[in-house]
Amino acid sequence: GAAVTQDIGSVEAGQMIVIKYRGKPIFVVKRTEDMLATLDSVKPLLSDPDSADSLQPEYCTNPARSLDPSILVVEGVCTHLGCAPNYRPDVGATDLGGNDWYGGFFCPCHGSKYDIAGRVYSGVPAPLNLPIPDYNMDGTILTVGE
Ligand code: FES
Repeated sequence: GAAVTQDIGSVEAGQMIVIKYRGKPIFVVKRTEDMLATLDSVKPLLSDPDSADSLQPEYCTNPARSLDPSILVVEGVCTHLGCAPNYRPDVGATDLGGNDWYGGFFCPCHGSKYDIAGRVYSGVPAPLNLPIPDYNMDGTILTVGE
């Protein structure tokens, strides 16, 4: 099939790599404990905090939106008009339009903000969380697709 495999064992905590899958960038972030600690506190600021309306496999319908909480795998495609958001892992900064910003992804096209699970903030143009593709992990080997 079209599945793509990558060893992500050398990705450092807090680092993001990009994998191409079916022409789309897939963002893979090795999340730190500090990042994971923001997932709950940021919920009141989000449009779809439980990802009820957003796209992800059933095995990623959980608070961390992932198989392994330390590894985030999301499509790097803004749900507004499809730009590629920038990785902004700066937890605790308060730039990017004010309000609380716990770090995540920022879309430079029209200012949509996403958290470190790819969940979209309220009050921005993007309507939904970043989609999560089908993937699986075997040790440090990530396979995106089926
Ligand atoms: Fe991302 Fe419009 S395409 S905010």
